[in-house]
Amino acid sequence: MTQTPETAEAKAPSKESTRRRKALVTGASSGIGEEFARQLANKGYDLVLVARRKDRLEKIAAELSQTQGSVAEIIEADLVTPEGVISVEKRLGQGDIDLLVNNAGFGTRGEFATMPIHRELEELDLNIKALVRLTHAALGNMVQRKRGNIINVGSTGSFQPVPYMSTYAATKAFVLHFSEGVHEEVKKHGVTVTCLCPGYVLTEFQQVAGINQQRLPARGRLTPAQVVASALKGSADGHAIVVPGAMNRTLATGLVRMTPRFAVRRIAGSLFKDAGTQS
Ligand SMILES: NC(=O)c1ccc[n+]([C@@H]2O[C@H](COP(=O)([O-])OP(=O)(O)OC[C@H]3O[C@@H](n4cnc5c(N)ncnc54)[C@H](OP(=O)(O)O)[C@@H]3O)[C@@H](O)[C@H]2O)c1
Repeated sequence: MTQTPETAEAKAPSKESTRRRKALVTGASSGIGEEFARQLANKGYDLVLVARRKDRLEKIAAELSQTQGSVAEIIEADLVTPEGVISVEKRLGQGDIDLLVNNAGFGTRGEFATMPIHRELEELDLNIKALVRLTHAALGNMVQRKRGNIINVGSTGSFQPVPYMSTYAATKAFVLHFSEGVHEEVKKHGVTVTCLCPGYVLTEFQQVAGINQQRLPARGRLTPAQVVASALKGSADGHAIVVPGAMNRTLATGLVRMTPRFAVRRIAGSLFKDAGTQS
């Protein structure tokens, strides 16, 4: 049968379906975000890497281009500032991002009444406000194209209050509830929003939060590689929540629910009360 130009055109793969998939990862300069960049490059993704430390991003981008053949753009952005968020929103607006990983985040530890309020508010700006804005900026195109995935990084702290990390745990509770809600809204459009809830992972997080890692129990601790592998599988399978590690899953989704809330608060508080680098 002879092909008319119209049918030949109809059968030719579209530019959209043949292009390499692209992921944008915030907080890609260290820890879990850097590991997302590595595992996604290994799966054949091109990348847009976002963080404040440009030198680190450049190094990671050069390495992934050499070893995996990934094209990695970098955006130097402070996501606590409106300008930083707008620069990433603009990039998402180009409409070619298949996977957004909202990973950038930090924690503060100490007695809330004595903590500098500006830092607590920056925590809200990064962990909540930037994440909400970037999710919104990515979703428009994803819903229109009827495909796309978002991974928002929460924490096992999303499931409970954590005294001495009160602001941090509350931001992560927001991330969990927000992600679950939006996931339910957009799944009919072929788009998923997965909340990744890691437990204790040794990264720069502890140093930034002023936590002495020697004071935290090592049991149940996972590596960034384990956490990211679970997240990518959970997102590909369309899960709304991923808690990596059997022990963390049991604690976060089982024991926390079955234990009286006053006891949950006390146990969590006792872990972090004296976990400071100075204490
Ligand atoms: N490690 C854990 O035990 C653990 C447990 C549960 C959840 N999490 C969550 O996992 C995520 C990643 O943390 P991590 O453990 O990988 O810690 P990390 O090694 O400290 O990485 C944090 C990343 O966020 C970026 N970031 C921080 N402030 C930023 C800002 N103002 N603007 C843009 N980027 C910023 C950092 O890059 P720059 O400094 O270069 O900007 C860095 O790439 C966070 O959301 C954290 O809350 C961690």
